Amino acid sequence: MKGGRSGGMADVIAGETAISTVGKEGNGLTYRGYRIEQLAEHASFEECACLLLYGTLPSDNQLSRFSASMTGKRQLPAGLLTILEQLPASSHPMDVLRTGVSALASFEPETDANDPLDIAARLLGACPSLLLYWWRYRDGGGRLDTAPPGHEGLGVAAHFAELLHDGGLAGEALRALEASLVLYAEHEFNASTFAARITASTRSDVYSAITTGIGTLRGPLHGGANEAVMELLEHYQDPDEAEAGVVAQLAEGKLIMGFGHRVYKVRDPRSDLIKRHACELAKASGDLRSFAVAERIEAVMRREKRLFPNLDFYSAIVYRHLNIPTPLFTPLFVIARLTGWIAHILEQRTANRIIRPSAAYTGPEPLLWKPRNERI
Ligand code: COA
Repeated sequence: MKGGRSGGMADVIAGETAISTVGKEGNGLTYRGYRIEQLAEHASFEECACLLLYGTLPSDNQLSRFSASMTGKRQLPAGLLTILEQLPASSHPMDVLRTGVSALASFEPETDANDPLDIAARLLGACPSLLLYWWRYRDGGGRLDTAPPGHEGLGVAAHFAELLHDGGLAGEALRALEASLVLYAEHEFNASTFAARITASTRSDVYSAITTGIGTLRGPLHGGANEAVMELLEHYQDPDEAEAGVVAQLAEGKLIMGFGHRVYKVRDPRSDLIKRHACELAKASGDLRSFAVAERIEAVMRREKRLFPNLDFYSAIVYRHLNIPTPLFTPLFVIARLTGWIAHILEQRTANRIIRPSAAYTGPEPLLWKPRNERI
């Protein structure tokens, strides 16, 4: 393996997994053997979480037990709330999530007595709470009750929407948010999952591996792309302006966020699924501007670069129509991906060997030590 453009561990098989396949049959994606098209259409996020974490689709009873365990874990320790209140209002929410998860580990460290699947339920309960507690507090909204009466029956998507806006989502809006969480939940050895597996491979704890994942997902080449997409779409007033702008950016050698993929070569199967929701929401709102701009950029990227939109591109439009502020886009990705990360951490633990590859050395040949007064 070389550095530079031919690096990045492209085409390297870095381990084994039974959790998902990406691009195995051309452009396919499966979670535990189930095609993403079926999961996005039929599965709730909680069903998908059970599938990833436990390995099989849950029965009614199993799903109820898992959901109750998760919804019962939405309160945060008082000390953690104090920490969140101290974070600057200017923080990026990804930094808040990373700090929050790391701090939670100090209050509730993983020990040999813990079932890591309980920690998975705890993180799925706690992450929306800590993120939105801080978000509402820094917005002058006071100290949010993160587990108010009446929320017990709400899944992750509905609870998130309630905490954010004091008013729930229903119908197509809720279904679109739920589908985006299912689509974001898992993606084999992507950068953040691999990073989390590396941390797990040192026999570190679940919280440390998740903190690693959050830090890795933050970058614009990975999860941060969905925020960058929104900035791109908001920059243009209409499709013609977008076409001219994107052509000019490509001529300058710039990346257009939300396009391309390391593994998929022709299309990202998740993109068509989320695009349908983006289209429905745009039509229902009567505001088709962003969607029309996005479709034109998609056509330009196909024509100019033979590149296709990835999941982040149309997700940005879905989130905008749900009135989700742009800085919360990548944190939503984290909440969904917790399930995939933890499934991988547990899989890594079942057949662990520390992940420690080798490097091709490109530095100087051995040199002789010189005292300081002899150095030029
Ligand atoms: N905009 C413009 N050109 C792009 C591009 C994009 N979004 N993505 C890839 N390309 C170009 C590259 O510049 C490169 O061109 P070259 O051969 O002339 O140098 C070619 O397509 C191959 O891309 P490469 O950088 O080798 O792909 P990669 O596998 O290393 O990177 C991504 C994959 C996803 C990181 C990359 O496509 C990208 O940066 N996309 C934008 C960020 C994004 O949407 N990330 C979310 C991923 S789900």
